[in-house]
Amino acid sequence: MKSLEGMSILVTGGGSGIGLGTARYCIERGAKVTICGRREDKIQAAGAELGDACRAVAADVTLAADRQKLLETAIHHGGQLDALINNAGNMYRGAITELDETALQEVFHTNVIAAMMLTGLCTPSLAHKEGAVVFVGSIHTRRAFPGASPYAATKAAVQGLTRVLAAELGEQRIRVNCLLPGAVFTEINQRAGLMDDETALQRLEGMSDLHALGRIGTPEEIAEAMAYLICAEWVTGAMIDIDGGLGLGITADPAINKSKESSEHE
Ligand SMILES: NC(=O)c1ccc[n+]([C@@H]2O[C@H](COP(=O)([O-])OP(=O)(O)OC[C@H]3O[C@@H](n4cnc5c(N)ncnc54)[C@H](OP(=O)(O)O)[C@@H]3O)[C@@H](O)[C@H]2O)c1
Repeated sequence: MKSLEGMSILVTGGGSGIGLGTARYCIERGAKVTICGRREDKIQAAGAELGDACRAVAADVTLAADRQKLLETAIHHGGQLDALINNAGNMYRGAITELDETALQEVFHTNVIAAMMLTGLCTPSLAHKEGAVVFVGSIHTRRAFPGASPYAATKAAVQGLTRVLAAELGEQRIRVNCLLPGAVFTEINQRAGLMDDETALQRLEGMSDLHALGRIGTPEEIAEAMAYLICAEWVTGAMIDIDGGLGLGITADPAINKSKESSEHE
């Protein structure tokens, strides 16, 4: 198992939520981390909070020039590149009868195409370090949320391509894995204009009973798994659900519940 100490890690979308939690977790364990986001003020605030071990870059992963700038910054900051965390992602929901083609293309561009292009760009640097790539899938591919087909389709895509890239890059000793987070309170729905903070939190907490462990997760709990995938030297092509058991699709059996209730009343 490798150690995060001294590693150089590039986390896209590190200005909030899971990316920020991952950057903080890795820095606390001795890594140098480069983060990016499109909002200058947001990413700079995150960089200031994380301190000297962090380089914050205002960059859009859908732009080739920004991806090049990101890789150069990460190598300059950390001296090498040990891991790429393809975390930047956006939500797009809508009934299948009402989808907007441009919005669909945009969400695929950020969530899938940009992550693929950045992975290709970073491959020669990662090969020098027998490094790691982590994609971020979603519980949306394990449980069906009606109206979320655009988002779920992007996540199914990164989960699929993880296995192909694990096979393709194994020869260069690069490990490629995918994390599937469950419900974590972040900014993703609010940035998409779908709800405010309070509604987003209430909605997620309303799903607590669907989790085997009875609660939603935190960015830090996702970061622990990110760190595992960065460091585990014999893990590649893996899909890891970190979701408190939400993806199990726990289903109450009405017949059994009924017979339990009636025996309790006897
Ligand atoms: N929260 C959950 O419950 C959950 C569950 C499963 C999977 N995920 C996945 O986890 C990842 C992180 O999301 P999150 O929940 O932590 O949401 P978040 O707080 O909204 O973080 C996503 C970050 O990505 C950045 N971003 C978006 N588009 C970008 C682009 N084109 N270029 C650069 N940065 C970009 C955003 O910053 P800017 O807007 O400033 O660019 C934002 O800071 C996503 O891939 C998401 O799909 C989340």
